[in-house]
Amino acid sequence: MKSTKWTARIGICAALIATPALADDATVTIGLILPMTGPSASTGKQERAAAELYIQQHGDAVAGKKISLIVKDDTGAADVTKRLAEELVGNDHAKILMGFGLTPLALAAAPVATAAKIPEIVSAAGTAMITEKSPYIVRTSFTLPQSAAPMAEWCLKNGIKKVVTLVTDYGPGIDAEKWFSQTFTKGGGVIAQQIRVPLKNPDFAPFLQRAKDDAPDAVFVFVPSGFGAVFMKEFVEQGLDKSGIKLIGTGDVTDDDLLPQMGDAALGVVTAHNYSAAHDSPENKAFVAAFEKANGGMRPNFMAVGAYDGMALIYQALEKTKGATDGDALIAAMKGANWTSPRGPISIDPETRDIVQTIYVRKVEKVDGQLYNVEFGSIPAVKDPYKASKP
Ligand code: PHB
Repeated sequence: MKSTKWTARIGICAALIATPALADDATVTIGLILPMTGPSASTGKQERAAAELYIQQHGDAVAGKKISLIVKDDTGAADVTKRLAEELVGNDHAKILMGFGLTPLALAAAPVATAAKIPEIVSAAGTAMITEKSPYIVRTSFTLPQSAAPMAEWCLKNGIKKVVTLVTDYGPGIDAEKWFSQTFTKGGGVIAQQIRVPLKNPDFAPFLQRAKDDAPDAVFVFVPSGFGAVFMKEFVEQGLDKSGIKLIGTGDVTDDDLLPQMGDAALGVVTAHNYSAAHDSPENKAFVAAFEKANGGMRPNFMAVGAYDGMALIYQALEKTKGATDGDALIAAMKGANWTSPRGPISIDPETRDIVQTIYVRKVEKVDGQLYNVEFGSIPAVKDPYKASKP
């Protein structure tokens, strides 16, 4: 008898203690971790603005839950990302983590998402293998092989026979180098030289000189978003723009945030990528207009679209789970999701949790006096080639 009474009392205490948690259940906290300072601050600024715009346009309530967005600055340092992820889960009861401006930052959060069993939406980073590091990772950004392989295909069809690759020396750069080179050489192209430039404080000048000495038809470049303007300046200073060597790459180098200030040297640069602010669709026109209006004329880039779609995915998943925030239920709801993004039709591959999207071939041109990546070709429904190539 006595022990039954105690059990009942413990039950009542537990119920009392549980009450605040129940009240808390009315809110879904999303921890958005981004580099708001440092060399990748442009990614932080773009992603934050886009996530906030999505909430402003769609309301801060979904399936009976209030959405609370907490933005944290990891300064681009992986140990800070990990600590912030732990704090967001432990102290703020975040039910979803999102953001991650560089591959090492997305990787640093993966064990936290796995331990907490909550979704980690990778809305910025692009190394192919990231999604394999946790069953709770879903990507709304892009993968480098997704753009690098189509860029090589375009070269093969357009008389480019000899290329020097120049990439930033870490995950996405190595992916870009590998998938461009492998696709290009398989089709009969020649890679004269593969150059890797450090991520920290890059000085492109000596590397560009080395590339020029080979007299290739083109230099294929990957630099992460935020570094394109410095690269372009040095490309001109080393005289490559006047050398007849074409500049090609994944679209990170002519990113829409920096492109307007790059000057006429950027004219004619051909890139393959998943998003251009000049994409001609009603969804994109509405997105660009609303984004520019809300952000003092700032043009959205591909990072902004990654975060906007990250929020769209979260809202859709919560609708499907009827507001339930169980991580496994949310991940199940995200698999196979598909919708029309400002970038075009996209979906989440149910097997890999990675994004499937159209890749566009674009050329920098002036539109109404401003530099834009003008799309002139497209390959629909591109899956990450790295994962698609695995048995
Ligand atoms: C990455 O670190 O994964 C990354 C960052 C910026 C980009 C592309 C990839 O533009």
